[in-house]
Amino acid sequence: MSGKQISVLLISPDEEIYSAIEGSLAEQENCQFTGRKDTVSGVNGSAISLTALNDVVLFDVEEDSDKMLETAQSICDARMPNAIIIALAPEDLPLEKARQLKKLGVDDVLPRTAINEEIVPQVDAIRTRRQAQLPAVWGGHATLGKVIAVAKSRGGVGSSLVAANMANELQQKEGFFKKKAANEVAVVDLDFQFGSIAALMDVEESDAMWRMAMDESIPDTAFLDQAMAKAPCGVDVLAAPSRYGPLSAIKAEQIDAILDSLRRSHDYVVIDLPRALVEWITPVLAQADRLYLVTDVAVPSVRSARKLIDFYHSENPALDIQLVASLEKKPLFPAAHHRAATKLLEKDFSYWVPKDERTVRESVDRGVPLQDVSNRAPATRAIKKLADDTRASLPPRVNS
Ligand SMILES: Nc1ncnc2c1ncn2[C@@H]1O[C@H](COP(=O)(O)OP(=O)(O)OP(=O)(O)O)[C@@H](O)[C@H]1O
Ligand SMILES: [Mg+2]
Repeated sequence: MSGKQISVLLISPDEEIYSAIEGSLAEQENCQFTGRKDTVSGVNGSAISLTALNDVVLFDVEEDSDKMLETAQSICDARMPNAIIIALAPEDLPLEKARQLKKLGVDDVLPRTAINEEIVPQVDAIRTRRQAQLPAVWGGHATLGKVIAVAKSRGGVGSSLVAANMANELQQKEGFFKKKAANEVAVVDLDFQFGSIAALMDVEESDAMWRMAMDESIPDTAFLDQAMAKAPCGVDVLAAPSRYGPLSAIKAEQIDAILDSLRRSHDYVVIDLPRALVEWITPVLAQADRLYLVTDVAVPSVRSARKLIDFYHSENPALDIQLVASLEKKPLFPAAHHRAATKLLEKDFSYWVPKDERTVRESVDRGVPLQDVSNRAPATRAIKKLADDTRASLPPRVNS
């Protein structure tokens, strides 16, 4: 088979895995196999330099759990862009540990014992896809999370409220006191100058994005780990900086790298967009699986919404844009101004988030999700429905 050259690295002391993978790759053209029959710590430092040279890296996790995470972290940090990292773990590895590994950037965790059922076919599927240069979906499993952008037609229309509360609901918390989240969710506040997500979600503002802009560095997993804060509701937040910086300081490549990285570690990446049409929102529009445009139905807002839709579509014609009418209850019978709005927008409103001063004020003042103030309030229910529909049409990663 012709195609792109691909390199696979295996670090495992397990004789059986070693010979199975070496054997299955030996017959493949354009495929280079490198193996170390040892543990990561056994190969003593060379694991990291080898990782940086390979498209696919399989490594055996250490039994000692602190060491396991440390090793995984150093391997993920050393990866080439787009390299796929697979951890081979004992069959009884607790789910929590598997999640932690994925959070660090490991793409998949496979049971060491399922050599012929899982490991070999998975490596083979990656190799075939990579050589054909197909997108990063392999073995029928989606390995990347979904990017959902939230935009607004005017200031103060309620888009950050929608973004923050949708993010909370996307976690799909289950169990006693709804403490356990089924999905990993991140929110990135790209309203660089006027961001309000930190306050809404009760995390500290952070200067990380400001430093990134000033250093002109490309953010990696280590940067994100340090820059993101976990909100009390469980969502990981990349807050806007607390000091002012010029909008033009951020570069499209930096935003692209943030999204690439977060899609690997989270099921949903919610982006609160600024209203400004800056160059670096292009990667968001290119990577977004959906964009919610929040507007009210007043004429000036609807006109801006129309212009934004045209701009977004000129950047990405395939972008799925859905309209959210904020501060309005869904009318039983559309009034003349509703009909005029729909006509101008050439699109119906998909969701209506009613004005709900009391619940929203308490949620904003306390820095807790609407759900924690009242799960029956109209605004809570409206945003929950939006999140439930999002999850149904854009499912989370498989095996996350
Ligand atoms: N459904 C609602 N009912 C009542 N008040 C709301 C509602 N949605 C938002 N608000 C209030 O309106 C104000 C603006 O909301 P929010 O910050 O979410 O809007 P935004 O579109 O993100 O604004 P900005 O332009 O500042 O980014 C806040 O004070 C918020 O509490
Ligand atoms: Mg906002």
